Amino acid sequence: MEPAGETDLRDWTMALKISGPLPPCTHGGRGPEIFNAVDSQGSLYVFAIPFYPSRMTALFTELQQRFSIANVVRFEAGQGGLTRIVVTSPLVSAEVYLHGAHVTHFQPAGQKPVLWMSGQSLYQTDKAIRGGVPICFPWFGPKAGDPSAPMHGFARLREWQVESVSQSDEGAVEITFTLTADEQTRTLWPAEFVARYQVHIGKTLKLTLQVQNKGDTAFTFEEALHTYFAVGEVRQASVTGLKATNYFDKTDGSKEKSQGGDAVGIVAETDRVYLNTTAPCVLSDPANGRRVGIEKAGSHSTVVWNPWIAKSKAMVDFGDEEWTGMICIESCNLGKDRVELNPGAIHEMRAEIRIV
Ligand code: BG6
Repeated sequence: MEPAGETDLRDWTMALKISGPLPPCTHGGRGPEIFNAVDSQGSLYVFAIPFYPSRMTALFTELQQRFSIANVVRFEAGQGGLTRIVVTSPLVSAEVYLHGAHVTHFQPAGQKPVLWMSGQSLYQTDKAIRGGVPICFPWFGPKAGDPSAPMHGFARLREWQVESVSQSDEGAVEITFTLTADEQTRTLWPAEFVARYQVHIGKTLKLTLQVQNKGDTAFTFEEALHTYFAVGEVRQASVTGLKATNYFDKTDGSKEKSQGGDAVGIVAETDRVYLNTTAPCVLSDPANGRRVGIEKAGSHSTVVWNPWIAKSKAMVDFGDEEWTGMICIESCNLGKDRVELNPGAIHEMRAEIRIV
């Protein structure tokens, strides 16, 4: 087996399904680190990793030094070795991966986790994390005219930069991430942009995605905060806030239908794109005895998704039975609600999530 270089180490360990952080460096990173692992067929592998300890130590040391807050915010190797930020305070516990600037956990004190995570999620640099809040940008679904481009855009597949971490007097933590156009994004989408994502973690979770046009021509984009909510039993859950709107039913050839006056219940595979709606939604979750409010700003579309039985089975990173415990309610700008941005202009979309 070829030795791992320092850039491909994370993929390499994922291929062997080593869960949790890699073993700590035992000798200060001056030479190869040696450890072994057993794969799913029972084969034993012995590894010598020439660069890992010094590189990872440097990365975490820098992030810790610049951004950690004693007893509240720390950086660590999360699942698959991907870097995550762990927030623990008397108000709330939360986790955010740098990969995709992906919030994977949000739990106000005294509550059950608000966000759903799949136990089958992959944690790889080339895959989106399944659950939490993936950011879809700059397109939603397959890219028009380019079926080989990644589904839901590239933002959820890129490691975002941490710009700042702070704590308010009330104890809420705010983390700001950025993603900037580079060679890789330009091959998929020829636009000069900076995306800035603020994650406010307190009693409420406030997610603010700003996109700025840094080029000299206008561009258009789609975006979604593809939020997976945990529910006790999705067949008992319902979503209000969408009455009298129209939606495109992706389970029925994207036909346009009217929601009428009803709450949205989940009685079959559900994949609906509601356009021209800025209203807040409320998720009723009787099996958990709670309601979750989703307010939004700068968002004109809402998607409601549950894959139900067959689609769950077809997805490799989604447990066959897990659909009963989740529902996605996504604050977005899609289709005819997509955003057009002139040079220098900034667009902001926000979702605010709280137990009500
Ligand atoms: C939803 C889409 O938002 O995301 C669905 O409306 C899609 O059509 C789902 O299946 C999951 O997408 P992905 O790429 O994360 O598997």
